[in-house]
Amino acid sequence: MNSLDQIVSQARADFLAAPDAAALENAKAVYLGKSGQITELMKSLGKLAPEERKAQGAVINAAKTQIENALTERRDALANAQLQARLNAEAIDVTLPGRGRGVGGIHPVMRTWQRIEEIFRSIGFDVADGPEIENDWTNFTALNSPENHPARSMQDTFYVDGHDSQGNQLLLRTHTSPMQVRYARANQPPIKVIAPGRTYRVDSDATHSPMFHQVEGLWIAENISFADLKGVYLNFVRAFFETDDLQVRFRPSYFPFTEPSAEIDIAFGSGPLKGRWLEVSGSGQVHPSVIRNMGLDPEKYIGFAFGSGLERLTMLRYGVNDLRLFYEGDLRFLKQFN
Ligand code: PHE
Repeated sequence: MNSLDQIVSQARADFLAAPDAAALENAKAVYLGKSGQITELMKSLGKLAPEERKAQGAVINAAKTQIENALTERRDALANAQLQARLNAEAIDVTLPGRGRGVGGIHPVMRTWQRIEEIFRSIGFDVADGPEIENDWTNFTALNSPENHPARSMQDTFYVDGHDSQGNQLLLRTHTSPMQVRYARANQPPIKVIAPGRTYRVDSDATHSPMFHQVEGLWIAENISFADLKGVYLNFVRAFFETDDLQVRFRPSYFPFTEPSAEIDIAFGSGPLKGRWLEVSGSGQVHPSVIRNMGLDPEKYIGFAFGSGLERLTMLRYGVNDLRLFYEGDLRFLKQFN
């Protein structure tokens, strides 16, 4: 065996002995690297006479090719071995039993929504549903909020690109009150309805979320007064909180679409919140202009409306102090309600 053959067979042996790609590249350098054995031999050709150089060059090149082939072969073998090892390590045992599905639960705010529907249905209220993308006429104008009313500003309303078929600007409804007008225009009085649903405002902190839920209540007939509102609402909160040891109070307030207007506060007679007045709802006697926008005669029809926050009611019922918890999707929190 001449010395070139020895180099080739030594290279083969070294490559085969290389346990991984990095070791293989090191072994390669010994032969084909900048000062590898083959490279050095190539360099030495310069010292030879031209004919000799040609013959020797061909022999060295042949050896180089053999070494390169051996290298490629070993590279492939190592890559295959690595793939095989991965396939073995990640093999799935299809005979293992499944993990089973988690049982879903009802979100606490949805539970509140369901309970509210149940309670109001039991006293003869219809339940209505309306669009979350409203137009500014129904959300504001019909509810007696003039064009320049601050509640319409970009700061607290999500406007949507585009207009409805009447040319009204579209927006995400900022409250469920537009349902008063929608429902009254589609139904004959007496009107007795609640409309729960999602509402949107540019607002975000411990007690506000850009998406939240309200329930609108509306009772319109020929002789509906604040006394009816008080009776209905007291019945509602007592049923909702499952206690008769609960008072309501009406505090004068202002809404463009009711006159007079009131905030409804409740106070528990016992429990951790005992004796504290807690605001739960806006309310009022429906404004004559709104009655007119409902297509009804304000000389004949009168009634009340209220709008309560579902998150607020849920927080009070369960003692949750940060509204954001409802929307973080943390199962440790949500599981407590199921
Ligand atoms: N829409 C009012 C709000 O979002 C609440 C309200 C409803 C007040 C009905 C009066 C009557 O704040």
